[in-house]
Amino acid sequence: MRFDLIVRNAALPDGRRGLDIGCAGGRIVAVERGLAAEAGQEVDASGHLVSPPFVDVHFHMDATLSLGRPRMNVSGTLLEGIALWGELKPLQTVEEIAERALRYCDLAVSQGLLAIRSHVDVCDDALKGVEALVQVRRQVTGYIDLQLVAFPQDGLYRSPTAEANLLRALDMGVDVVGGIPHFERTMADGAASVRRLCEIAAGRGLMVDMHCDETDDPLSRHVESLAHETQRLGLQGRVAGSHLTSMHSMDNYYVSKLIPLMAEAGLHAIPNPPINIMLQGRHDTYPKRRGLTRVRELRDAGLNVAFGQDCVMDPWYSLGGADMLDVAHMGLHVGQLSSRADMGWCLEAVTGNPAKVMGLQGYGLAPGCNADMVLLQARDPVEAIRLRATRLAVIRRGKVIAETPARVARLVLEGRPATVDPATYAPVAEG
Ligand code: FE2
Repeated sequence: MRFDLIVRNAALPDGRRGLDIGCAGGRIVAVERGLAAEAGQEVDASGHLVSPPFVDVHFHMDATLSLGRPRMNVSGTLLEGIALWGELKPLQTVEEIAERALRYCDLAVSQGLLAIRSHVDVCDDALKGVEALVQVRRQVTGYIDLQLVAFPQDGLYRSPTAEANLLRALDMGVDVVGGIPHFERTMADGAASVRRLCEIAAGRGLMVDMHCDETDDPLSRHVESLAHETQRLGLQGRVAGSHLTSMHSMDNYYVSKLIPLMAEAGLHAIPNPPINIMLQGRHDTYPKRRGLTRVRELRDAGLNVAFGQDCVMDPWYSLGGADMLDVAHMGLHVGQLSSRADMGWCLEAVTGNPAKVMGLQGYGLAPGCNADMVLLQARDPVEAIRLRATRLAVIRRGKVIAETPARVARLVLEGRPATVDPATYAPVAEG
């Protein structure tokens, strides 16, 4: 058999090493040692790690790369970020949103990030963000799986036109129903919004992904409502709770009831480590709460937990760069996931786990899966996270679509090795 592409001598995230990955017709056909076959193209992995592509299951593509428009967030706080977004929304055009989103997608491809779930604000009666991102989803379909969430940023009931706009957005082809119950005027309105939005999703056969209890309020109870509505409407496996930061502050006894309810409902949990550690605990003096949800406890109870990125260079967050290894690095630290097994799991939290949330078909490195993968300048998952490793090659459907040269440092010290590999700190033979 002749292959379109063979990646030789790869290490896989599960610890297997020295494998060749043969691809044909856009799919992985063989994963074995010493694959005796010819290919249109060969990539020498040289023992480096090949991972399935990165997946970012929580992002805001309608706001990304808008940093500085119309002005900077001087204080760096959530409140000024929200005010800034309110200033920017009426100013921006469909073309501008689409142009920024496409630029971001290019950045994502360079980082091996080939699947993104983006919330899109529907509290703009012109639905400019929806129009732009539906168009972008079509334009990037060859290289990024882009899923859109109708997100009533200003509150389903707090914003008078939010529900009508959300329904229009779904009619325009937005994939997932979003929400923000903790932002409604009362706890009762929040619970009612969860109920209404889950009913809309059930009626249309859609998935749900809500910003749920992104607060430090230990008495916020919208996660419970989300688990209940999921179970009541038979939406198990199709509903995700994003952020869930109130769970950090909740009473342990209550959590011992809540997590089994979430597990029973088959909820997916999506913490966003860089944003949560930056924005939560702002009303605290010391000790200051971290605000990240209970990652280990949710995972150990059988929930699917995926790390999201949330923001890159927008009104809320000036940093970030489509680097899901950076997100895993932050999640590992803030969640104190420092055992060898836990560190390896952090790579799954930005690859296979978010793929499950999105329901991606053909995802993975087994024969039969899509021939999508990333060659990293690292030998294993822990090293990949430690280094936020260089993406040596990004492959989609059996074709190399992005390459970055290996990172090496060239020293000019007299009588000493001249080149250093940042992964091993070993001298590199000049050649
Ligand atoms: Fe978000």
